Amino acid sequence: MRLLIYATSFLTFRGGVLQGCKYFCSALGFCVYLPDNCFVMDNRYRSVRPVLDSNKPQLYMETYGCQMNVNDSEVVLSILQDAGYSLCGDIKKADVILVNTCSIRENAEQRVWGRLDLFLQEKRKRRGVTVGVLGCMAERLKQVLLEHEAVDFVAGPDSYRKIATLIEDAKSGSKQMNVALLRDETYSDITPVRLDKNGVSAYISIMRGCNNMCSYCVVPYTRGAERSRDPQSIVREAQELFDNGYKEVCLLGQNVDSYLWLNPDNPTEKVNFAQLLELVALTDPSLRVRFSTSHPKDMGNGVLYTMAMYPNICNHIHLPVQSGSDAMLLKMNRKYTRESYLARIAKIREIMPDCAISTDIIAGFCSETEEDHLQTLSLMEEVGFDSAFMFQYSERPNTRAARHFKDDVPEEVKTRRLNEIIELQNRLSLASNQKCLGKTYEVLTDGVSKRSDLQLTGRTPQNKVCVFDAQGHGIGEYVKVEVVSCTSATLMAKIVK
Ligand code: SAH
Ligand code: SF4
Ligand code: F3S
Repeated sequence: MRLLIYATSFLTFRGGVLQGCKYFCSALGFCVYLPDNCFVMDNRYRSVRPVLDSNKPQLYMETYGCQMNVNDSEVVLSILQDAGYSLCGDIKKADVILVNTCSIRENAEQRVWGRLDLFLQEKRKRRGVTVGVLGCMAERLKQVLLEHEAVDFVAGPDSYRKIATLIEDAKSGSKQMNVALLRDETYSDITPVRLDKNGVSAYISIMRGCNNMCSYCVVPYTRGAERSRDPQSIVREAQELFDNGYKEVCLLGQNVDSYLWLNPDNPTEKVNFAQLLELVALTDPSLRVRFSTSHPKDMGNGVLYTMAMYPNICNHIHLPVQSGSDAMLLKMNRKYTRESYLARIAKIREIMPDCAISTDIIAGFCSETEEDHLQTLSLMEEVGFDSAFMFQYSERPNTRAARHFKDDVPEEVKTRRLNEIIELQNRLSLASNQKCLGKTYEVLTDGVSKRSDLQLTGRTPQNKVCVFDAQGHGIGEYVKVEVVSCTSATLMAKIVK
């Protein structure tokens, strides 16, 4: 109830825009699925899908890294579409090639260096092709990237408003670079042009940057300081997606729990993450809301109660633990302990017994002993994670860990520990899926099964992938299914009425 009052007061404070928009959309009944490339010529209602035109300069884009990077590419496409470019899927036809990059681990960067060599071959075959490197590698490596023969310009994550000019200036012959990090850039006024395949689920970035300074992590250096986006623009974007037929939004931030917006006109007026979540959930009861990533040190009970209150906020929390050892957590500068992490898990389960919990784990961080590693395995067992992303520690230059600690766990030990973590998680994922047998779930369909055109895939609120016979249903529908069998990765199900 308290949270509802927050939302209402916010809506009133920001006036009729939100309500007006809602009225406008439902009155016109835009709750239909808009096909790819559909373009509605109404300036109150713009398409969020790419508009393809082979007569315009052709833009080819590749994106690496996290969901936030994918959403950034959607912002870049929006800006370049407005500047007269058209997206193309064929590198051989491209006038401009962009690669949006990730620096999180050494292998992510290696992949991009390989792509640059390939882009160079393309440039040699066809004159006039311009190549730009965007994103976290651009920010980290700056001049080093510019020196690669293939690269015409380098653009950091906060420079995308200027990207059309960077391309034009690079085309006129001189290499260009803009890697300035800005304290208040959130691209809040830009409607991303969506790159998802199915028009069902879309990302909304609610903040940028990170202040946490985990000692192993490059993100605070490549993305700059944390800043929260104006909630009104977030709610408007959710509404716009819903009006374009989207059924699910995922709110993105490196640490969504520290989202905090202060009204510049009245700094006593604040919106925190729990309140924002509620505002987005109120867009429509049939719009599913997800979010990522939560931080164990910041995830308060308010978020959990809001999740429990709104059925359209999916019962899934991604809560990276990184390690089960207090010594490692301290060294990583995570600012929580094994005990406080487990207390958060207990609270989630108390408030939402059917909430899925996933995590991230790093194997072989600096000076990790066998005992530390066993602590990670035992924590995994204790929590029983539903799924996990698992990584081998990769030293990133200039991070606190690189400057102060020795990367002293031998490669083969890191690999062995990672394999043990993966093996355990496979067992835990299977056990988690087996608990679903015989139960029914509401699934949002999002694709056709790889094995058969007659089967659909979809996700449960807990983010588990389900496969089932389509029985006349299509993509972007809610269907009720009963789980009949499973593997560690997938639930096999049948539709029930
Ligand atoms: N902001 C999120 C995740 C950011 S990056 C969070 O704090 O949880 C995604 C994951 O990559 C991290 O959770 C971590 O598990 C992993 N990661 C980050 N830096 C890494 C490094 N140097 N080596 C290996 N894995 C790393
Ligand atoms: Fe990196 Fe830590 Fe920030 Fe996540 S919270 S992006 S791991 S510094
Ligand atoms: Fe994302 Fe990689 Fe940058 S994980 S924030 S694209 S370093």
